[in-house]
Amino acid sequence: MKLIHLTDLHLVRPGAMLFGFDPAERLRKTIARINRDHADAELCVVTGDLTDEGDFASYELLRDVLRDLRVPTRLLLGNHDSRENFVRAFPGEPRDESGFVQSVHESSAGRLIFLDTLVEGSGHGALDEGRLEWLLARFTEKPEAPTFLFVHHQLQPIGLPHFEPWNTENWRHNMRAIVGAGNVRHIFHGHVHVDVGGTWSGIPFSASRGVAHQIIPNFTRRDADFVEDAPAFDIALIDADGVLVHRLEVSDRHVVEISAAGPVPEGEQ
Ligand SMILES: [Fe+2]
Repeated sequence: MKLIHLTDLHLVRPGAMLFGFDPAERLRKTIARINRDHADAELCVVTGDLTDEGDFASYELLRDVLRDLRVPTRLLLGNHDSRENFVRAFPGEPRDESGFVQSVHESSAGRLIFLDTLVEGSGHGALDEGRLEWLLARFTEKPEAPTFLFVHHQLQPIGLPHFEPWNTENWRHNMRAIVGAGNVRHIFHGHVHVDVGGTWSGIPFSASRGVAHQIIPNFTRRDADFVEDAPAFDIALIDADGVLVHRLEVSDRHVVEISAAGPVPEGEQ
């Protein structure tokens, strides 16, 4: 299965700018690249911070821009989002029985579980108010099925002091429960605006720097430098043997002529 992971779009209302750039334009370029090269993907998952301020006009703009995307899309919420305005703009997006934007998708490669870690008015994430219990109940439905989690906030630390206050509440408790389920193959998350991947107690995770602004990783300082690099997104190739994550950036690349490199030196032919 080919799956696209987008994150942190940070759209603002039509005509407005964010840090001097137009987030919607960056998303349009990203969608054009996906349509050109990856329209065969089974699903595109956007792991939150769909908008920068959670206002309804930004969600309407998102709805308009996403109409061009030729891949089915699943939208998750981040700390910059508003659950109420999102649901108004996207009433068809699945929610759990408590109203959280959490759901399950049975894909050709296994179960995809989408989590809602938004705590309205706060930068950190949480799986409180029954959200962790909802996840554990999903695990018990199909304990043998390969399962993949999608979430905005990092469920595990990423080693950068800037993000320590914005970890998911009770993250160690949550992660132990996820490890204990025994069938989670990968966690795809957003929120961090840096390229990072690794494992926590054997569970792999990955996040990209995202579509809007990015952060320069700093391993000692709490504050962060924001930059405007090329938009990035991930392509995940998932089968019974494992998960491959390719990071792609939306930039104009110059393909070099290999023949212009000159003759291969003697002895290396
Ligand atoms: Fe973000």
